[in-house]
Amino acid sequence: METKHFNNQNTDIEAAAKLLQQGEVVGFPTETVYGLGADATNDEAVKKVFAAKGRPADNPLIMTVGNIVQLTPYVEISDKAKSLMTAFWPGSLTIILPIKEGQVSMLVTGGLQTAAVRMPANEVTRTLIKEAGFPIVGPSANLSGKPSPTTAAHVQHDMDGKVAGIIDDGPTQVGVESTVIDMTAKTPTILRTGAVSQEDLAKVLGEEVVDGTSKKALAADQTPKAPGMKYRHYAPDKDVFVFDPLDWFDLQEVLTEHDAVMADEDLLKNLKDKKQPSWSLGHNLNQASENLFAGLRYFDDEQKIDRIYVQSMPDMGLGKAYNNRLAKASGGRLFQGLDRD
Ligand code: TXA
Ligand code: MG
Repeated sequence: METKHFNNQNTDIEAAAKLLQQGEVVGFPTETVYGLGADATNDEAVKKVFAAKGRPADNPLIMTVGNIVQLTPYVEISDKAKSLMTAFWPGSLTIILPIKEGQVSMLVTGGLQTAAVRMPANEVTRTLIKEAGFPIVGPSANLSGKPSPTTAAHVQHDMDGKVAGIIDDGPTQVGVESTVIDMTAKTPTILRTGAVSQEDLAKVLGEEVVDGTSKKALAADQTPKAPGMKYRHYAPDKDVFVFDPLDWFDLQEVLTEHDAVMADEDLLKNLKDKKQPSWSLGHNLNQASENLFAGLRYFDDEQKIDRIYVQSMPDMGLGKAYNNRLAKASGGRLFQGLDRD
């Protein structure tokens, strides 16, 4: 199949919406990561998304909408859910809600009686979905098990020849996937960390919010998990190690030409060997999140690189989402530092 390339002009958005109406799959931008869109009400179209990603059928998809009216036929929206939508939509929050019986395809929900719903901040995509006239499924546009795409070129790398079109609206701004909150649990529970933090959510809801991704919650095993959590995620083929910025100088003592480092500008200023393969994570946490997946993808395709060392961030707010993605990419492997006694 020839993959058409669209830009963010109206005529291109209209052409992409036509493809969606014909039951085809189109890569689309959001503020978090790029997604793979298809008519959520058309099972044949949804099947193509699972096929293109190589995604297991029991891992449910997000329904992505352009406005609230597109959502009301499908899910029960409680007052609490409404307050979340008012506060955070359009934006980087995915909300799990009960479906209206028989209204959502079991292919989309993976057989669950709940659905994940989201309204992205990207205007091109909201226009696309309104133009198409139905909610679209919207998993990240990577091959299953690869880091999520943050540019249209990443989508093309994974999906060229497998999807009907890709809309290029430049690099994404957030760089990590949306926060997922389960509003069907007894206590609202975060299933995936993202730019919308536990504190942000608790403030709007006026009640406790459980972080179901924390070690404590996972150990207690009381919380429902996102079905997708059992699959290996965001993992490049190369060996990835997390390092603490405090170990920057120790790390440099062990680096070879087959190692790549991903670090912020402050650390890179103090990179002793200027020829060391490196990727800048920018000047702050927001930029680091924005640049993380692109760096992993870049070195994953570099022949001579065997290992990628990536800086950790303070574990607060967006830093939790950043560290969580990094932990997954590295399989939890840490650079231990040298013995500093
Ligand atoms: O930022 C994002 O959310 C991106 C952009 C493209 O919108 N999309 C995205 O979709 O990350 P995906 O499919 O890669 O991740 C959705 C996660 C998966 O882990 C899935 O298992 C979980 O949400 N999920 C979907 N429906 C669910 C449900 N009904 N109950 C629990 N978890 C669900
Ligand atoms: Mg994904």
